[in-house]
Amino acid sequence: MGEAIGTAPPRHGERLYVRGGARLEGQVVLAGAKNSALKLLAASLLTPETSVVHRVPRITDVELMVEMLRALGARVSSEGATLTIDPGGRLEGCAPYELVRQMRASIIVMGPLVARLGEATIAMPGGCNIGPRRIDFHIRGLEKLGARIDIDHGFIKVRADRLKGAVVALDYPSVGATENLLMAATAADGVTVIENAAREPEIADLAAFLGAMGAVVDGAGTSTLQVEGGHALHGAEHTVIADRIEAGTYLIMGAATAGDVTVLGLDPAHLELFLAKLRAAGVEVDEGERRIRARRDGPLAPVDISTLPHPGFATDLQAQIMVLLSLAEGTSIVTENVFENRFVVVDELNRLGAGIVTSGHHAVVAGPRRLSGTVVEAPDLRGGAALVTAGLAADNTTEVRGAGHIFRGYERLEENLRALGADVASDIPGAASPEAGADAAGAGAATDGTI
Ligand code: UD1
Repeated sequence: MGEAIGTAPPRHGERLYVRGGARLEGQVVLAGAKNSALKLLAASLLTPETSVVHRVPRITDVELMVEMLRALGARVSSEGATLTIDPGGRLEGCAPYELVRQMRASIIVMGPLVARLGEATIAMPGGCNIGPRRIDFHIRGLEKLGARIDIDHGFIKVRADRLKGAVVALDYPSVGATENLLMAATAADGVTVIENAAREPEIADLAAFLGAMGAVVDGAGTSTLQVEGGHALHGAEHTVIADRIEAGTYLIMGAATAGDVTVLGLDPAHLELFLAKLRAAGVEVDEGERRIRARRDGPLAPVDISTLPHPGFATDLQAQIMVLLSLAEGTSIVTENVFENRFVVVDELNRLGAGIVTSGHHAVVAGPRRLSGTVVEAPDLRGGAALVTAGLAADNTTEVRGAGHIFRGYERLEENLRALGADVASDIPGAASPEAGADAAGAGAATDGTI
């Protein structure tokens, strides 16, 4: 048995110092997809048998999900990026408020718990600061499968002695609702059809894991999923797909610094529209077998972006691409269709010199702008990644506060950036802290993760 994940989380600071100006060049081996790994860990609760999941990213959100599995009664151990989950003991049906509050994705344990125990109690979710993230589709879908739902004092109680297969048409292809229903449906009598299902690659990954556990799922990757419920599930072994959002972020960072970055491990089809937009912006993109190379030496052109459910442009790359578009010669329009309040990072980007004006769910991004470092605050995970991107392209040093948000989703961010030639440092707790952040990074103090 390996070291216990959760007892030795990666050490991260709350501030990142980024001295801009370096041209990023080199390769990044991608971690497993956060948005898949979290769901596979939850899915492992569907059976009392042990499952093994490979390529799990070492990020804070995974630490929280591991804590959640343990709080529910599972045993979890890790060996590098491989997690072994043994949910064979007596499981609790109640997801603790403290964990759900810290990570909205915790509500994904609802489907597996109802499937396995016939009941689940989950606190109403927290998570990223990007608008009211509702759960009505999850609830309505579970009701369609025969569950009774009560909402009481901020907790959702779901009960179902027997789930029954049904046709569930989602109002919107919600990722989380599709996944919760997919997992619950494995325990339902008869066939469940989920219409208008989300088509994200992470859902196909979850369906593949469920298939390996003995579930019968058809249509993964399309908008109609069909689940033949009632098959006894067993433990399974599975490798998480690579993280397309991590990939897109590094490709943008490379392009923003007029660099040459290759990401390894991802099927380029998972980023098809994103790569088309990079090309339209003047970035040279080469796609190979699980590798994507993006390089730029000329000027950037403006490009309009509209976020949509997959295969549309991912909302999780919207903040980062706005940085690239700020450097383009002309004006781009970015439209956010997935989440409300997802322009929260705009004020901070403007403090670095961007010229972004928002109106409702549209942002007008004026370019080209010369970015220049100052102190900024990461409002959320992807907004934080955008601030780091801006810092890399900016003159001087950018101090990104609230960097804890970024480590929720990026494994070895500092190490990867340094390997690409960036000058980054953080205030790792317990290490000598920099006197004045900007100067510390500006002096190039950090080379080994401690400053
Ligand atoms: C997942 C991803 C997140 C990504 C998002 C959209 C994880 C852990 N997170 O989030 O990184 O940005 O997909 O690709 O996988 N909605 C409702 N009612 C519901 C459910 C959703 O109104 O019951 C709305 C949300 O408020 C939001 C939109 O639907 O405006 C999309 O949400 P959803 O696809 O469910 O995103 P998540 O699963 O939360």
